[in-house]
Amino acid sequence: MFITFEGPEGAGKTTQISRVHDFLKNRGISCIAVREPGGTNIGNRIRELLLDPKLNEMKQRTEILLYAASRTQLVEEVILPELASGKVVLCDRYVDSSIAYQGYGANWNIDEVVTINQIATGRVLPDRTYLLDIPVQFGQKRLQIRGDQKDRIELKEKLFHTRVREGYLQLAKEEPNRFQYVDATGDVEEVYQQIIADLSLLLPIKE
Ligand code: TYD
Repeated sequence: MFITFEGPEGAGKTTQISRVHDFLKNRGISCIAVREPGGTNIGNRIRELLLDPKLNEMKQRTEILLYAASRTQLVEEVILPELASGKVVLCDRYVDSSIAYQGYGANWNIDEVVTINQIATGRVLPDRTYLLDIPVQFGQKRLQIRGDQKDRIELKEKLFHTRVREGYLQLAKEEPNRFQYVDATGDVEEVYQQIIADLSLLLPIKE
């Protein structure tokens, strides 16, 4: 089973993935967690380019292709072999991030982003995608509290991030069987319970 976690900045994906990972491990289900961009040596090098705030000359098409290249490496080097060995793969962001950020956020042609990503992934799609939804201002406040340096994508204007969120909601509407909407405004435990409730229906989990 291939499971992805998506959502705007500050939705808390990383915390939830680590909890879901522990939840599955404790119940004897072998699983791995990976993140995008990155998750491989090559992907991590590409990640440095993508998130470097100094590289503001990066063209939109370059950005789309770099995210896609990191994804190709992750699919072929990690995701497909791990799925083939019977593991559950949890992935922090995937194709939907490119559609939401590079497509909706940056106003690029959505069909073009989709086509590039079909080539990049060989059309490998998740079985389940959790959309951790949060209003932009709410998410940005969380980032502020966290106090990390903002990367090149996080530095984009508020309107960009509003379009990203709307893009995600649109994607979830278009593919209701794959997407599971999760209200991420609550505390960590509340959000986690929403995810586990759905996951427990998907996987053979013994209490
Ligand atoms: P990261 O530090 O992993 O942020 P987050 O915890 O929010 O996932 O940085 C990833 C950034 O890259 C994030 O701002 C979203 C962006 N991104 C895209 O714009 N397109 C993509 O295809 C992916 C995978 C990420």
